[in-house]
Amino acid sequence: MNRREHGGEYIEFSYDGRSVRLPIVTGTEGDKAIDIRDLRKQSGLITLDPGLVNTGSCRSGITYIDGERGILRYRGYPIEDLVENCEFVEVAYLLVHGALPKADEREHFSDLLNRHSMIHEDMRNFFRNYPEHAHPMAVLSAMVISLSTFYPELESSSDEEMDITVTRLLSKLRTIAAFSYKKSVGEPFVYPSHRLRYCENFLNMMFSSPVVDYQIDPKVVRALDQLLILHADHGQNCSTSTVRLVGSSGANLYASVAAGICALWGHLHGGANQGVVEMFERIIRDGGNVDKVIELAKRKDSGFRLMGFGHRVYKTYDPRARLAKKVCHDLLEHLGKSDAMLDIAMRLEEKALKDDYFIERGLYPNVDFYTGIIFQAIGIPTNMFTVMFAIGRLPGWIAQWLEHRADREQKIGRPRQLYVGPHEHHFGGGGHRPSERASAK
Ligand code: ACO
Repeated sequence: MNRREHGGEYIEFSYDGRSVRLPIVTGTEGDKAIDIRDLRKQSGLITLDPGLVNTGSCRSGITYIDGERGILRYRGYPIEDLVENCEFVEVAYLLVHGALPKADEREHFSDLLNRHSMIHEDMRNFFRNYPEHAHPMAVLSAMVISLSTFYPELESSSDEEMDITVTRLLSKLRTIAAFSYKKSVGEPFVYPSHRLRYCENFLNMMFSSPVVDYQIDPKVVRALDQLLILHADHGQNCSTSTVRLVGSSGANLYASVAAGICALWGHLHGGANQGVVEMFERIIRDGGNVDKVIELAKRKDSGFRLMGFGHRVYKTYDPRARLAKKVCHDLLEHLGKSDAMLDIAMRLEEKALKDDYFIERGLYPNVDFYTGIIFQAIGIPTNMFTVMFAIGRLPGWIAQWLEHRADREQKIGRPRQLYVGPHEHHFGGGGHRPSERASAK
């Protein structure tokens, strides 16, 4: 039963002769949650919520999502406004510091990003020892944790040092990503340059070589900026929850982000952007038949899902997908490319959105549906797509890690479980005897 008392709502029920009373808490946008902190103390019960579908793990002031209305805001700013008006670096500042930078703050931030853009020369050797076919996400995660071995001053974590750690990570992740690409194609590393802005620098490190300079195209740079903004944060998703969980044990920022990168890699999360383009390629090889793929995705026994479709939170069109679709059209038009994949994507989307299976389940394109086509148009290879996602998501991970660290309500993350294994049993009787174990080699 739901009650209101002294202006505060609570939920009340009785279980096993005990009366249980739990407060209802309200967020700034009116969302409500039952605060179950005292549930076990009052009732002896725990909650069971596979995939944490109904579980809020924290209060957060960073990102607001309304999955029913397709709304996404960072620190109160609609994603549409940020994509239209900002550079990625400004959005990173907004997420980490809570407000958009003033001119002098922007300059100082850029200066820090430039100052910390190189990686220690000894780290270059690490790249040499990975096999050429190594997935860049594995390299990225390993390199990020390696940063903690080179920059131990992190441990003292004063505000000023934390600022340096944050900019160091933001800046170096981009360098590491570009180096891992250069290693995979067997080309020499290109160093970051103070002359270039954040996204220009990344593209230059990726595509410049000792024999050919990379020609910076402002429209390509802008498209990359916008894509990174679209990925910059998204509430308590799988990788962000991982970053927070690892951080909750007291692990440092590098360790927490390295774990987040691993979580992002999976094909149900950030790895979906690679899966989407591979799916488009299969459709093209198969003569462009989108119906076949839709039917396959609807068959539960196929084990196949329409990549880039569906979302835990959005039950309407993902606002990021809408923006990515526009960036995709604009960029391809600017580059004068007619893209077979874009054609497949649009036909697939149109058919799926008219299909009862997708309508009933509220399955719409998510952020990954169009981004791969844009990455490909920029020249980024498929196995680097999820790395691009990681570069974009990094400010969000950092902001969430800092928020978690400052939150006095938080404790080490440690969910419970409902045990469903065997009852207590002993050697002899139904159990194994040591003599049986020894002979059962
Ligand atoms: N294709 C076909 N069916 C789907 C799809 C899909 N892409 N997504 C969900 N469904 C179906 C499920 O089979 C299920 O059907 P049922 O109710 O008949 O059993 C129903 O829709 C609900 O799906 P769940 O798996 O319960 O939804 P959940 O919230 O756990 O999963 C997820 C969300 C993982 C994103 C899912 O939609 C999916 O696998 N999509 C494809 C992978 C993808 O694009 N991932 C990127 C997500 S965005 C991001 O992480 C950046």
